Amino acid sequence: MSENTEALANLSHEDRRFPPPAEFAANANLTAAAYEEAATDRLGFWAKQADRLTWETRWDEVLDWSNAPFAKWFVGGRLNAAYNAVDRHVEAGAGDKVAFHWVGEPAEDARDITYAQLKDEVCQAANALVELGVRAGDRVAIYMPMIPETVVAMLACARLGAPHTVVFGGFSADALASRIEDCQAKVVITADGGYRRGAASGLKPAVDEARTKARQNGISVEKVLVVRRTGQEVAWDDAVDVWWDDLVGKQSTEHACEFFDAEHPLYVMYTSGSTGKPKGILHTTGGYLVGAAYTHWGVFDLKPETDVYWCTADVGWVTGHSYMVYGPLINQTTSVIYEGVPDAPHKGRWWEIVEKYGVTIFYTAPTAIRTFMKWGDEIPAKHDMSSLRLLGSVGEPINPEAYVWYRETIGGGRTPVVDTWWQTETGAIMISPLPGVTEAKPGSAMRAIPGIVADVVNDEGESVPDGSGGYLVIREPWPSMLRTLWGDDERFKDTYWSRWEGMYFAGDGAKKDADGDVWVLGRVDDVMNVSGHRLSTTEIESALVSHPKVAEAAVVGATDETTGQAVCAYVILRESAGFEAGSDSADLVKELRDHVAHEIGAIAKPRQIMIVPELPKTRSGKIMRRLLRDVAENREVGDVTTLADSTVMNLIAEGAKGSSED
Ligand code: WT7
Repeated sequence: MSENTEALANLSHEDRRFPPPAEFAANANLTAAAYEEAATDRLGFWAKQADRLTWETRWDEVLDWSNAPFAKWFVGGRLNAAYNAVDRHVEAGAGDKVAFHWVGEPAEDARDITYAQLKDEVCQAANALVELGVRAGDRVAIYMPMIPETVVAMLACARLGAPHTVVFGGFSADALASRIEDCQAKVVITADGGYRRGAASGLKPAVDEARTKARQNGISVEKVLVVRRTGQEVAWDDAVDVWWDDLVGKQSTEHACEFFDAEHPLYVMYTSGSTGKPKGILHTTGGYLVGAAYTHWGVFDLKPETDVYWCTADVGWVTGHSYMVYGPLINQTTSVIYEGVPDAPHKGRWWEIVEKYGVTIFYTAPTAIRTFMKWGDEIPAKHDMSSLRLLGSVGEPINPEAYVWYRETIGGGRTPVVDTWWQTETGAIMISPLPGVTEAKPGSAMRAIPGIVADVVNDEGESVPDGSGGYLVIREPWPSMLRTLWGDDERFKDTYWSRWEGMYFAGDGAKKDADGDVWVLGRVDDVMNVSGHRLSTTEIESALVSHPKVAEAAVVGATDETTGQAVCAYVILRESAGFEAGSDSADLVKELRDHVAHEIGAIAKPRQIMIVPELPKTRSGKIMRRLLRDVAENREVGDVTTLADSTVMNLIAEGAKGSSED
């Protein structure tokens, strides 16, 4: 075994097991038989999943892989994404069913939207876009807060076959401009502003700035459609800007949709790459929708008649696309959409919403779970959350302590927890427990779901035996896979398909345990080399968080004269730890260092532990380790434009100064 794979092989012990409740298992949508069925006839299995959709023309061939890695799924099939998400449910008599319980951040601001209303609004918006000159194939950028119009806008684009690119509303004008330029967006849909923690913050000014920047680079946005949300003053260009209310409101609620080829582009989602330029992940229509609908039904055990489902992701992230919009709507789900932050106006806001709407399935990220752990058990304890029957986690490895806390404190010890591994690129969940089948282990995403063939390989691309670590790969194409990077086929091949022949390399390190279950260890770029030993940042973070005083931890490797790299940890304490900011942390730091040594080994003991109030995160909850490395190596902090909150680095730099080292 090489140095690389050896390093990824260590993992602390975890012996807890959570089998599915008997009643859950008895009624589960996906049973153990599905693994066998898919293994015997993988393409037949996917063809069966494709029948969740309504096709205008059925496909002739499930998969054309002759021009790998450029896949074509459901070749010859024709369908419309918006028709599948909305119209067909109304035609089937479910028009009065609630599609979304929308909850605004201001407490009095809430609205239920039925499938029939959604259909009318999507048709009106589609007609409006046609009036603005949008045609099939044109790109439309969407830069919006979490309001119903955002979903309507996405579906209106999909209905017209105009690929959308949703840019997270917290991103800067620069980030927006680079995305508009890269996909040459013809129209931008935005709002005057959005609410965050009670305050109105502007969006339209950033669009104006981005439009100017794009024009300087030769890309001219023709029209900007603006939803009035906050009533803020906005600059106005009559030649370009159009109020949503003026244009959309007057349109007909009828729009006859056109059907598109299964491989017609549905959307482009930008995600950060290792170089500065973001990658435009392209998803197409048929395969993507099959993947989103199948996984949403199977992994979340969705029972559309009775479930109330809530995914807390922002729509500007792939999770918001697959598990807030497309998957749930295709499956005729009733969902919650919440506009604001978890602590406005109080720290129990989420649990209040769960109680009020009787949420049964809840999907969030480990970063949120750890924040709630930090705030304390008494906050969720005030609410009746007995409606919950299934919990999900996504975005990063969930450390066992957070998993168990989530299951016990939020799920009352009853609910299975599905730790779902996937990526913007994969479009849909790939590795996850099945809630009615799997005996789950906290911290492990377990096995590839039926239809997906994942593996852990060594440097030579050979499958590693159980009990060893290596690189996470996908061995066979899958319907919701990215088709390319927008406008850059070469980078697509280089980034994902060049390491080993015929395998998709996800960029993550992973370990197969003695039973062959997968433990994702995080991005391979996040592996450190300390005195020749390769250590996983995730594992050390997990050890730190298993200490009762610690709520969150981020670990980076910083250059060190003696050891090559040294472990530097940034730690957020739980409120119950009773630590006063600015007081002497020497004893506490020693206690935590010893704890890591005890959990993993002396080699993993952090050189330095800094107590900080916040960590720098992207909106999807990923810690930006690059910035923490800058602090650890006493460098000027680099580009912070993709941080959800760009002020946190100041807090950290201050905290780092005050903390002890030895
Ligand atoms: C990366 C993808 C998938 C939508 C959200 C993030 C990490 C994601 C898990 C998990 C361990 C996970 C991986 C992956 N990741 N889920 N359950 N366990 N790691 O999408 O921004 O494209 O990030 O997130 O490192 O490669 P993304």
